[in-house]
Amino acid sequence: MGQILGENVKSFVANALHWISAAVFVSTLSLGLYMTSLEFMHPWYNSAPDFHKSTGIAVFFLVAIRSVWRFFFIEPAPIPGGDWKRSVDPILHRGFYFLFFGITFCGYLIPTADGRGVEFFGLFEVPALFSYKEPQEEIAGTLHLSLVFLTLCLALLHTRINIRRCASKFKSLFKLSS
Ligand code: HEM
Repeated sequence: MGQILGENVKSFVANALHWISAAVFVSTLSLGLYMTSLEFMHPWYNSAPDFHKSTGIAVFFLVAIRSVWRFFFIEPAPIPGGDWKRSVDPILHRGFYFLFFGITFCGYLIPTADGRGVEFFGLFEVPALFSYKEPQEEIAGTLHLSLVFLTLCLALLHTRINIRRCASKFKSLFKLSS
């Protein structure tokens, strides 16, 4: 299946999905932190959480599509540098998938605790699977925030490990265009 597409197309799609997911993740995170500080009378008090839930669900879909793409088409490039980086980075990668799915699943469990579904940009509704009321809302809320912070810590480590690879990619792009 991987032979049908050229190497350039495969890595372009994987890179595009990577950076789009990262951008949507950071926007969802910033909105999540911002919306919890809004006063009841603020005009975005209701719309900001609705938008947060929709972009959060979009992160779920993007990560799901990227994991399928990676599985079929992408052979991970070796990490330059010391041994610890080579062994830690693949573990981080797998960990990120679990964390993204964990964050979005816990996020989904917060508003659905009372039995109502979650709208995706008004296009369709994801139905509520469980409705254990307050205990569900509280436990899912705590897990949601804890997993977000764990992901941020691991993302810093991931950036530290891959910084040289990103820098050399940018340099080669610059050389090609000059
Ligand atoms: C990768 C995706 C997501 C990220 C990074 C994220 C991040 C956050 C953050 C940082 C907060 C603030 C937590 C606090 O201060 O207590 C938050 C709150 C919240 N998130 Fe998400 N979220 C994501 C996905 C979702 C999804 C998919 C849903 C629902 C479908 C959701 C529903 C909520 C709700 C309802 C709150 C408010 C919780 C409260 O008021 O205590 N989130 N999110």
